[in-house]
Amino acid sequence: MSTSHGVDGDPPLLSMRGIVKLFPGVRALDGVDLEVRAGEVHCLLGQNGAGKSTLIKTLAGAHQPDAGRILWRGEPATLASPIAALRLGIATMYQELDLIGSLSVAENVFLGHERSRYGFTRPAVARAQARGLLARLGHPEIPAETEVGRLSAAGQQLVSMARALAHDAQLIVMDEPTAALASDEVDNLFRIVEELTESGVAVVYISHRLEEIRRVGHRVTVLKDGRTVASNLDARGTSTADLVDLMAGRRVEIAFEAARSATVEFGPEVLRVGGLSRIGEFADVSFSVHAGEIVGIAGLVGAGRSEILETIFGARKPHAGTVSVNGKKLRAGSVASAVRAGVGLAPEERKSQALLLDMSVAHNVTLASLHAYSSAGFTRRGKELHDSVSTLERLDLRPADPRRIIRTLSGGNQQKAVVAKWLVHGCRVLLLDEPTRGVDVGARADLYQLIHELAANGVAIVLVSSEVPEVLGLSDRVLVLRDGEVLAEGPAAELSEADVLDMVMEGSAA
Ligand SMILES: Nc1ncnc2c1ncn2[C@@H]1O[C@H](COP(=O)(O)OP(=O)(O)OP(=O)(O)O)[C@@H](O)[C@H]1O
Ligand SMILES: [Mg+2]
Repeated sequence: MSTSHGVDGDPPLLSMRGIVKLFPGVRALDGVDLEVRAGEVHCLLGQNGAGKSTLIKTLAGAHQPDAGRILWRGEPATLASPIAALRLGIATMYQELDLIGSLSVAENVFLGHERSRYGFTRPAVARAQARGLLARLGHPEIPAETEVGRLSAAGQQLVSMARALAHDAQLIVMDEPTAALASDEVDNLFRIVEELTESGVAVVYISHRLEEIRRVGHRVTVLKDGRTVASNLDARGTSTADLVDLMAGRRVEIAFEAARSATVEFGPEVLRVGGLSRIGEFADVSFSVHAGEIVGIAGLVGAGRSEILETIFGARKPHAGTVSVNGKKLRAGSVASAVRAGVGLAPEERKSQALLLDMSVAHNVTLASLHAYSSAGFTRRGKELHDSVSTLERLDLRPADPRRIIRTLSGGNQQKAVVAKWLVHGCRVLLLDEPTRGVDVGARADLYQLIHELAANGVAIVLVSSEVPEVLGLSDRVLVLRDGEVLAEGPAAELSEADVLDMVMEGSAA
């Protein structure tokens, strides 16, 4: 098939052939082929653990392949290190951002920089250039001298992109770039991707959201179990059913369960949040959740959603207001008090908050419930393993080995471990912050079902998600949040996606 991108007969910009990558006990890549042309958005699709991130890490020079060949503009290339890849013109925006939090925006943008068209390292010049790049990316307000660690995930991603531009990258790899973005930020990202490809830059784009692939993608390569199972498919012309079949090797039900009926009977009130406020974050938030009810919070990233969940959990101290569980007030700002009352939080940032990366899956999953498993001061490993294994099986965690060290799992499988931890714990109140981030379509359906089952067993659930259809599809009741204030509250069945988007977007509130 020929496209308008690149002249037929020219070698592709990048060609990877028969790439193999072994880890102890795992064949992460087992002969992958990938071909990318200048000026195209080439999408990589595949289930959690299929090998997408591993493939792009070999492309980024972060992993060395055990076999296979890489051709860059038709010439054999060795990508010995990330700096070497960057100098060749390959820049990567990782799934877990790799910026240095304690350095400034400008320092991060020009990290490892040498002999580019900017050719310098003077701080004032670097700051000015970084400012120019951020302006080009539509965000002139990000200060070049700020520590990167203080920026939001969206801000950090822009810095990562500015770094790619600063190095004149000809190929930019984006590993799940929209996972941390709100819808207006996604629009901005796609605008940038379009501008880049029009100027001949190629983009390798990884996402579990098929609608994004339709929107920005040109061609698609599908990976399964470390192998290429289909390549160079038309991103718009290939049906969803075909793509999902290729990824899964089986038919997967990807539709949402029908919105829950409004006639579900709930139990007594379990969680009550009254007038909760934190200056600069959110103000006067009040709502209650009954046993068996799922309350969704919709709003843009930065609207204060995560802060509200963390305050309920006691990880942040409110300036005003109260949280009660079963009519009993929790001690403000005390996680211990919340956990004792049966509150669990599956937080949004799995790496920094939720997981001990160098411990096993089993250890991480049972972390929250150690008291339930310890008798006379030692942990009953048998029960611990048994409970986590059955939950992990339900979520299709791969590999299904609870002794695996978390760090060696794929991104989506780490996310499943975060959620599994609270499913095993047996909470009365479960706070879920972006529970399906990075989780593939098949596992998503399993996760939705588990959440519904928990509710059916009487757990009170609060759900935050940037994906409005997910909030509407999973919840019984929805709170719409903007700039830290509750704008509206109502049954999910009576709200449409357009209503919610209208409300959360600036300036268009009813
Ligand atoms: N450092 C490592 N050590 C051992 N195994 C690893 C390591 N990194 C990845 N793996 C394994 O390689 C396989 C592929 O993982 P990879 O992260 O590439 O998947 P992915 O397609 O990016 O998945 P996701 O959609 O969940 O991000 C998985 O089985 C994973 O557990
Ligand atoms: Mg990945």
